[in-house]
Amino acid sequence: MALDQNQSVSAIEWRDDTLWLLDQRLLPLEERWLEHPDLETVVDSIRNMVVRGAPAIGITAAYGVVIAARCRRQRDADNWQRALAEDLAALAASRPTAVNLFWALDQMRTALKGLDPTQDPVVQLLREAKKIHRQDLAANHTMGRLGSALLGSHNAPAKGVITHCNTGSLATGGYGTALGVIRSAWQQGLIDRVFADETRPWWQGSRLTAWELMRDRIPVTLIADSVAATLMQQGRISWVIVGADRITANGDVANKIGTYNLAVLAKHHGVRFMVVAPTTTFDLALSNGQDIPIEERGPEEVVAVRGQRLAPENVEVYNPVFDITPAQLIDAIVTEKGVVEQPSTAAIARLLEAPHLH
Ligand code: MRU
Repeated sequence: MALDQNQSVSAIEWRDDTLWLLDQRLLPLEERWLEHPDLETVVDSIRNMVVRGAPAIGITAAYGVVIAARCRRQRDADNWQRALAEDLAALAASRPTAVNLFWALDQMRTALKGLDPTQDPVVQLLREAKKIHRQDLAANHTMGRLGSALLGSHNAPAKGVITHCNTGSLATGGYGTALGVIRSAWQQGLIDRVFADETRPWWQGSRLTAWELMRDRIPVTLIADSVAATLMQQGRISWVIVGADRITANGDVANKIGTYNLAVLAKHHGVRFMVVAPTTTFDLALSNGQDIPIEERGPEEVVAVRGQRLAPENVEVYNPVFDITPAQLIDAIVTEKGVVEQPSTAAIARLLEAPHLH
């Protein structure tokens, strides 16, 4: 199924009573959708990055629970709920850093506890998964509005922004977090160019962000990750705008490896640093970023490109795929509930306790 140029991208679809994911490992060269008939295929797609991006992983896991529940009920109509606990554990073990995964599984657990015995449980769980999906999309549009308003409220001589990884429709329920703010700010004429880090080692920036922005006809320039300092030195950047995989109570942010580098560079050059993430990305159980589990992936991501080896055989590799940006380096965290400038434990607690904006 090919996506036409004018159709907005979505990477997750519930169609014909099952889950379909756009295989992000193949983009932009090939647009292939994979069907997910059972739990194993869903776990495999999260672990192996068919789907990636914190909110998208959470939404996928929610649909995964629906699929697992259906399979369990077919096998054992009486004890399916007990057996399903194993499936939730398998989903939870698929990737460690993005807290949205664990949040979505908790939502599904609560839905399971509150099932109405007079109605079909799978239908009720599907309703919950679709709600998680829909609410993420709505949150992204709200954040787009709030983040672009913040950007517009700061007078900056440059209208260029840098973004890292992919935080767009592909990484979320649609529209995007950091890329949602960028989409909204571009529409309002607040930015004139997006510099997309290619985002080594998995190339989310070159393969996914450049593709998404070009489809939207938003001017994008692809840069090697190491070019950011030069652009800032040249005065061409007003903001760095990134997403997050987990934000702790004090405002420390785990995001794609290389985000911390950008935050240090931004501080040195007087460039503002914005993190855009829904409230489902907060983990208030952790007081700071030190305790966030950081995923390490295999050496093949670093030594080879699409199977073509570039580094010497047997070279030692270190491949942590997320890093922690300390709150002191962040100017603003934009959520669907509002914006926290100069994040602190108290300011974040206040924001999260406030009623929802939408
Ligand atoms: O390893 P990935 O591609 O899942 O990492 C994704 C990121 O780090 C994103 O920046 C983050 O999930 C925010 S996406 C809206």
